[in-house]
Amino acid sequence: MYLVTGGAGFIGSHIVEELLRKGERVRVLDNFSTGKRENLNFGRNLKPAVKDRDFPDAVQLEIIEGDLRDLDTVHKAVKGVDYVLHQGTLPSVTRSLVDPITTTQVNILGTLNILIASRDVGVRKVVYACSSSVYGDTEILPKMETMTPNPLSPYAVSKLAGENYCRVFYKNFGLEAVSLRYFNVFGPRQDPESEYAAAIPKFITTMLKEERPTIYGDGKQSRDFTFVANVVEANLLACPIPKLGGEILNIACGKKFNLLDLVKKINQILGTSIEPKHSEPRMGEVRHSQADISKAKRIINYQPRINFEDGLKKTIETFKER
Ligand SMILES: NC(=O)c1ccc[n+]([C@@H]2O[C@H](COP(=O)([O-])OP(=O)(O)OC[C@H]3O[C@@H](n4cnc5c(N)ncnc54)[C@H](O)[C@@H]3O)[C@@H](O)[C@H]2O)c1
Repeated sequence: MYLVTGGAGFIGSHIVEELLRKGERVRVLDNFSTGKRENLNFGRNLKPAVKDRDFPDAVQLEIIEGDLRDLDTVHKAVKGVDYVLHQGTLPSVTRSLVDPITTTQVNILGTLNILIASRDVGVRKVVYACSSSVYGDTEILPKMETMTPNPLSPYAVSKLAGENYCRVFYKNFGLEAVSLRYFNVFGPRQDPESEYAAAIPKFITTMLKEERPTIYGDGKQSRDFTFVANVVEANLLACPIPKLGGEILNIACGKKFNLLDLVKKINQILGTSIEPKHSEPRMGEVRHSQADISKAKRIINYQPRINFEDGLKKTIETFKER
């Protein structure tokens, strides 16, 4: 059985969907703070959130509404679980600057609770969703796992702490905890509404209304935009591979695009010519981001199957349907 923490969120719900499609038993632990119940509307009698997917007849999904910060709840959630895919986090660099304490409590204490409970019941593997933000601004691109982290926000500090706890639990208790550093994930179901929403869902919804998207800064900041299906695949690849404890792997496409490129590509797909607006750069943001993904290729046979352009087309299609 799989436990997906944060399973009602953007990435977590895609992992849950894929596991259910494969006929696996899945438990979700989520407090629905940034995630939504409707993201988990799978099954025979419920309309899948993504069309054209076949679901097994008996969908085996159990949902625990609870908080990662509560060790008793986490202990209940890991009971009988083989693999924990730990996606539950309070995301956003900006939110973490506004409220660093809650970010720290959820992301660090929550991860520590997951590791303690997983160790206690003998979980086979914990896959921890880490973030490219831990690198901060590096002089050299692409970013490699051997580089010294340089987090620029409380969010990035908290994600790095989780990764260090994974390593420490492996070294001291032999818990197979592996960290996947995701680079700017995007796709269907990513929340465009929140004040802390990521650029892609926000730009798409704004441009679908034929309005001008706001870029913070000059728009030349670049990202290794990664379609969510690639991240789902990386999580599932990591589960059965032995001796991954303490490892850190970049999960991305290995290419970079800046925000001006992003607006241009959305315009091309929509057949529009909308100009972005510019506003003050945001604090805590990394300037350039691009991953070296050779380690993930070598160790878990990870290959990004859907590139940025195809992922963007798929995402725009689903946003249009909404
Ligand atoms: N989206 C990205 O670009 C990106 C990039 C790098 C890393 N990540 C990591 O991927 C993971 C998933 O991110 P996402 O984009 O899907 O975010 P999301 O906000 O959509 O999902 C996070 C989920 O965690 C749940 N959660 C938050 N606090 C909780 C708590 N105290 N107890 C239980 N559940 C709680 C939320 O309700 C939500 O369902 C996070 O760990 C994030 O750090 C995401």
